[in-house]
Amino acid sequence: MSQAIGYALVIMSDKKENKHMITLKEGARFSTQHGFIEHDEIAKLCQGDTIKSSMGHPYRVYLPTYMDFVMNIKRQAQIIYPKDAAAMLMWGDIAPRQNVLESGVGQGALSLAVLRALAGTGKLTSYELRADFAEQAAGFIKKFLGETPANHEIQIRNIYDGIEGVYDRALLDLPEPWHVVKHFETGLIDGGIVVAYIPTVLQVKTYVDELKACGFFSEIETAELIRRPWKVDGLSVRPEMWIYNHSAFLVTARKFRKNEG
Ligand SMILES: C[S@@+](CC[C@H](N)C(=O)[O-])C[C@H]1O[C@@H](n2cnc3c(N)ncnc32)[C@H](O)[C@@H]1O
Repeated sequence: MSQAIGYALVIMSDKKENKHMITLKEGARFSTQHGFIEHDEIAKLCQGDTIKSSMGHPYRVYLPTYMDFVMNIKRQAQIIYPKDAAAMLMWGDIAPRQNVLESGVGQGALSLAVLRALAGTGKLTSYELRADFAEQAAGFIKKFLGETPANHEIQIRNIYDGIEGVYDRALLDLPEPWHVVKHFETGLIDGGIVVAYIPTVLQVKTYVDELKACGFFSEIETAELIRRPWKVDGLSVRPEMWIYNHSAFLVTARKFRKNEG
């Protein structure tokens, strides 16, 4: 049975599937170049319903998915896009009950993906240099989940100075991730996995050289994911002309135990 959406965070999707994310408020109005709709009217609808603006332009109403949410927030920091976040969760083998370290938190897009994978269990600790980013990310996470998750802690600190505690998994999105490698000698369990999101090849080389030199990482793999959308419209079935080509490289490594004489 469908339920009225109420005064929630919603996605208004138009005929061309342009999406607007809005928080419904009593007495407020959703305005675009195609006319307006009263929030009170939207709040009465069920998910998937269609409503017309004052100029007759139809909008479909949905609750936002993770992808809708992170792609539609106003951003100050560059986020990890869903295609890479998805791979980081899988290649990093992120699963419930783990103790996960992440740095930096930035906008909190990756934090949110990890928190969903942990599903209220284990713990995510996020190290972030900038208090303003940390505060904004915490607000962003609360906005999507509806509450601040009890298993998330953001610490204002420089990860290059060291890691407190021992983690099962670590995810890095930092300008110079090679400075963190030595800290995993004590900061990561044996068999633990680190995935780093690294935009340029020179950064990748410096990081991978450090992973090899430290003597406790193996299974080092570097890959890049390119998502190639296709247009499927009548007889026009072909790759889209323009795609978002490069985001970053993902470098995965696993810590081994030095148990030989
Ligand atoms: C690109 S943003 C991270 C975006 C994030 N992964 C997301 O998906 O929203 C990089 C973040 O790393 C933080 N940072 C840079 N150097 C750092 C360091 N040494 N220790 C902790 N955080 C750091 C920056 O302040 C910034 O917030």
